[in-house]
Amino acid sequence: MSSTEPLRSTPPTGDVPSHFAPDQRTVDWVDGAVELVDQTALPAVERLLRLETVEDVVDAIQRLAVRGAPAIGVAGGLGVALAVRTLPEPGAAIRLLREARPTAVNLARAVDRVAAFMPDGPDAVLAEALAIRDEEIASSDSMAAYGIDTVRELCGPQPTMLTHCNTGGLATVTGGTALGVVFALHRAGLLGGVVASETRPLLQGARLTTWELARAGVPFRLAVDGAGSFLMARGEIDAVIIGADRICANGDVVNKIGSYAHALGAARAGIPFIVVAPESTVDVATASGADVEIEDRGGAEVSGFGVAAANPAFDVTPFDLVTAVVTDRRVVRFAAGQTWDDVPLGPLRS
Ligand code: MRU
Repeated sequence: MSSTEPLRSTPPTGDVPSHFAPDQRTVDWVDGAVELVDQTALPAVERLLRLETVEDVVDAIQRLAVRGAPAIGVAGGLGVALAVRTLPEPGAAIRLLREARPTAVNLARAVDRVAAFMPDGPDAVLAEALAIRDEEIASSDSMAAYGIDTVRELCGPQPTMLTHCNTGGLATVTGGTALGVVFALHRAGLLGGVVASETRPLLQGARLTTWELARAGVPFRLAVDGAGSFLMARGEIDAVIIGADRICANGDVVNKIGSYAHALGAARAGIPFIVVAPESTVDVATASGADVEIEDRGGAEVSGFGVAAANPAFDVTPFDLVTAVVTDRRVVRFAAGQTWDDVPLGPLRS
């Protein structure tokens, strides 16, 4: 596709100064505590946080030191392990953890799954939390494999893809959801380029996605959120690829605010709108996006000068605007009339 400005050319992997190893885990259990990459400090500062209490984990989730649906699920599961080890009566702390953020289904789901092992003792609880961590790592590999096939089928050769928010290793454990597919396309020589959407107000796209793309040597340009649909109309984008915080029974996709606008732009431009998320983000118990609590993060993130602000952190893209949902076990074409029931779970791929 043509472009008025060359894609920023970035050095190959390893030439971007970084203290972190390429396979640095965003969230992990290290020597009896939860260790996190501090996402509030990136891209300027690369640092790890060591969280030794469940209150620290709740605080890290709420102030987005760890963010992204799978990553907060893993942090929540490990937080339960911490609660069980450090508190004589962990029930109240676990409830606070479960409710630290409401929209991504991964958090409450992981907390419930791990807490169910409490009767079996702290070691069983920790083992279940580590199993969730390991499953998310395997899921990222599998989404990349399913995603490459889907992009090749839907988007033509060497597509330039617009992505929103951050969906890379920082949002999972390693790898990524939508950005994991982008990395895999790049490694396979199948990617034209990337436009990273800035993602107001907290700039996950500008701060985190560009940091990950640069470290991986993927060519990209950064665009303000409002430019997305215009770039699509001008023929500079071949497909949109995003992640999800929850995907409902009817295929409605709840994701970072701004996703719906990109979906409308993609529909108008006649280009695919692809959602990549693990099965741990699929919530068939919730009928539609209208039933999901959308976190409002308050006016201070939006306006520093005292005017009233609306700040929904997420929006709902209706299922009929979603060309395909790629999970770690299947690809569902909602815009073509498929439902979850039409596509049984397949194998994990690597
Ligand atoms: O508020 P955040 O940064 O936690 O929101 C994250 C997103 O919306 C991501 O796009 C989403 O979790 C999918 S990526 C795994």
